[in-house]
Amino acid sequence: MGPLRGTLAIPGDKSVSHRAVMLAALADGTSTIDGFLEGEDTRATAAIFARLGVRIGTPSPSRRIVHGVGIDGLQAPDGPLDCGNAGTGMRLLAGLLAAQRFDAVLVGDASLSKRPMRRVTVPLAAMGARIDTADGGTPPLRIHGGQRLVGAEHTLEVASAQVKSALLLAGLYAAGETVVREPHPTRDYSERMLAAFGVEIDFAPGYARLRGGQRLRATDVAVPADFSSAAFFLVAASIVPGSELRLRQVGLNPRRTGLLHALRMMGADIREENPASHGGEPVADLVVRHAPLRGIAVPEALVPDMIDEFPALFVAAACAEGVTRVSGAAELRVKESDRLAVMAAGLRALGLRVDETADGATIHPGSLQGGAVCSHGDHRIAMAFAVAAQCAAGAVRICDVANVATSFPGFDALARQAGFGLA
Ligand code: S3P
Repeated sequence: MGPLRGTLAIPGDKSVSHRAVMLAALADGTSTIDGFLEGEDTRATAAIFARLGVRIGTPSPSRRIVHGVGIDGLQAPDGPLDCGNAGTGMRLLAGLLAAQRFDAVLVGDASLSKRPMRRVTVPLAAMGARIDTADGGTPPLRIHGGQRLVGAEHTLEVASAQVKSALLLAGLYAAGETVVREPHPTRDYSERMLAAFGVEIDFAPGYARLRGGQRLRATDVAVPADFSSAAFFLVAASIVPGSELRLRQVGLNPRRTGLLHALRMMGADIREENPASHGGEPVADLVVRHAPLRGIAVPEALVPDMIDEFPALFVAAACAEGVTRVSGAAELRVKESDRLAVMAAGLRALGLRVDETADGATIHPGSLQGGAVCSHGDHRIAMAFAVAAQCAAGAVRICDVANVATSFPGFDALARQAGFGLA
């Protein structure tokens, strides 16, 4: 495979795009969102707010003009609201819709329909919300409106920005204060963005507190490039000899960049240039050059900061000298697919030895062969194996890749621009 070269513009951040539409919809006044991710997940969220009576204009790709309806202005939808593949969409909306006057039903695709929702419905119930799940705690979510919510102090068992955010959104409508404490700090985009929309909120890593009854003031949002999308190119350029890629102005929120630390521990050559602040978020160009990687034991403390990057990390590990061990990562089993099982099966199909544990895996060194792998409809698994193919000895066939469009439409085109061999 030839070296990967060039300068790439990575699309906007998925987490930030979801939140920007939600908060802009609830604000008084009109907000412009620039750098909005034109992915299926985030478009599903925007379409849901249109069904809830919010006017959203698209004057050009990656830009949205949201005419906020105010905190009490959402209208009852005329049927179930489809979150598509988006766990973030569904879980955050559960918190927001639990506080409305009207009933709502949230549905999702086959993958989302298997994901655990009690992690949000149980703490929301402690605030007075009434939400029914299917048996097993999965979607659809039937949300009974017209409840009077009261603030509560939540100590979460799972480190989850989605759960934290759902509780804070419900807390905007609750009587009194809502406090969320996390077992490990997670991404704080909701907290930062609530503050940008004029909400008084106290927050620190692992902690957030707000008072209900506040109004949001429209503001413009500049969405940084998504580190999780950049991750595939960081690994690809690291493992293909002769490569050098520049990824322009990538979001470097410290709660997202665990993979950067892990790759550097493995010996990766990644430099940050032109640091700046974009919509209040740190960004920089990432310049990545090929470097020989060595296996590591991934520190458990890094896991929440790289929770979406394990498919990419597994590929880096597969191309490294020595063993890589992952532990403390049981959450990977309830992502868009069971990412521990699916990555292990895929790497085995390409000739590697991977031992799976309940909360991690050990990836043994070897040489990647060609073969057939299945993404199980998981966008990040599909992209990870497209990267793995760049250093496999034969062709890699990946089935079920349509969901790449949920987070990274244009991945193919950008990968080809960089020099990936994609058939
Ligand atoms: C997200 C939080 C994480 C992450 C997901 C996006 C968010 O999920 O995996 O891709 O935008 O809040 P959890 O809250 O389940 O950890």
